[in-house]
Amino acid sequence: MLKHIVFAISGFLIVLQLGLFVYREETAEWKGYQETYYKKLAEVVGDPKIANSAIQVTQIWDKKLNRADRCTTCHAGIANPAFENEPQPFTTHPNFKDEGYISKHSFEKFGCTICHEGNGQAVTVDATHGVVKHLDRQLLSGEYVQAACTKCHYELLARGVYWPEADVLMKGKKLALDLGCGACHAIRQFGTNPPLAPELSNMGSKTELAFTLVHDFSQIESEDHITRVWEFEHFKDPQKIVPGNPDAPNPKDRTSPTSMPNWDLTEEEAKALTVFVLSLRDPGVEEIPDTFFPEIASHDGFLQYR
Ligand code: HEC
Ligand code: HEC
Ligand code: HEC
Ligand code: HEC
Repeated sequence: MLKHIVFAISGFLIVLQLGLFVYREETAEWKGYQETYYKKLAEVVGDPKIANSAIQVTQIWDKKLNRADRCTTCHAGIANPAFENEPQPFTTHPNFKDEGYISKHSFEKFGCTICHEGNGQAVTVDATHGVVKHLDRQLLSGEYVQAACTKCHYELLARGVYWPEADVLMKGKKLALDLGCGACHAIRQFGTNPPLAPELSNMGSKTELAFTLVHDFSQIESEDHITRVWEFEHFKDPQKIVPGNPDAPNPKDRTSPTSMPNWDLTEEEAKALTVFVLSLRDPGVEEIPDTFFPEIASHDGFLQYR
């Protein structure tokens, strides 16, 4: 009996020690970035005292959005135009300086994950970047961030609307209209409703789990088994990803390869269509509060419809 207790206690201590070790390692990471940031800031401002500023997790919390984003714990210079040429994670946000369009989305109000998705609460590089296992909304970076603009700017998907700020999405929308996706797929945003293929209207609001549970990744080349990778490879070669089972021994089990056409798309085109498909959002899932719906100054003449 005593042996068991001793064993249990020592087991517990080992786990505790391991936990503390991991905790220290993780906090060391963001602390290091913040220390460096304040040193750099002290130089920029010319005030050495700033180098000794208190190190702490910073967080943008918006009650209405119900999100707490800690990205600025490391991305500390994100809203500081003087950090334009500093390395990540200190760099000024692209298109922020000189009242660029990003600056119209005040970080204090919008936070980061409203556009970038990902895990806003985490404070390690591993848990916030790249593909994170079991995360329902993977970080969007580069051109993929354009798939989030339609959460608020519905008009982006209207015919005849072109926004240069979301050029990849615009390219995807044009391809989707030109190639006639709406002939087979229901796409509410385009007003199409044929019953020949799965509805796409809410594709961008699905969780990773909801997607991966019903999609076959066995033909996917990439090791990253997430939605956007499946979509991209499927656009490149639909019959490879959805080959059906035409040679099954039992005729009853035989299914044809997908009827979705292979257009021999370039990487760029397949990516643009992926961004397009992920921009098809379900407003009921996104739940963006009214106060985040824009009155746009520079793109006048569009209709804001909900
Ligand atoms: C622990 C510190 C840390 C936190 C927390 C953090 N970042 Fe980063 N981030 C970095 C570093 C370091 C880099 C540059 C190295 C790299 O690319 O991994 C980077 C790069 C990036 C990039 C460009 C490269 C890429 O991976 O696409 C984006 C976008 C980005 N971060 C967004 C975010 C967002 C959004 C959050 C919050 C959800 C966040 N980061 C939280 C440290 C951090
Ligand atoms: C209104 C939407 C929006 C918001 C809000 C937003 N971002 Fe971004 N972010 C973008 C877009 C779009 C890009 C891609 C820009 C590009 O590649 O030109 C981007 C790119 C980045 C990059 C990569 C920069 C590079 O040089 O590659 C980082 C880092 C980043 N964002 C961090 C953040 C952090 C941290 C926050 C919160 C403080 C944030 N973003 C809030 C839209 C947004
Ligand atoms: C959470 C809602 C939301 C998201 C997501 C969002 N925006 Fe906005 N956006 C707004 C609001 C609100 C404004 C108006 C801000 C103001 O001027 O008061 C705005 C303004 C703009 C403007 C400036 C127009 C002008 O001159 O007033 C542009 C351009 C823009 N957004 C592009 C984008 C792009 C591109 C993305 C995706 C990377 C994006 N937005 C994501 C809400 C959003
Ligand atoms: C001839 C009819 C047809 C056309 C045209 C077509 N598709 Fe498809 N698509 C299908 C069928 C059938 C499926 C289901 C089997 C599969 O996954 O390939 C499908 C599947 C998809 C899926 C996966 C949906 C899911 O939930 O599994 C996406 C995304 C998609 N198509 C996007 C598009 C886009 C974007 C276009 C236009 C560029 C397009 N499709 C044009 C027939 C079509």
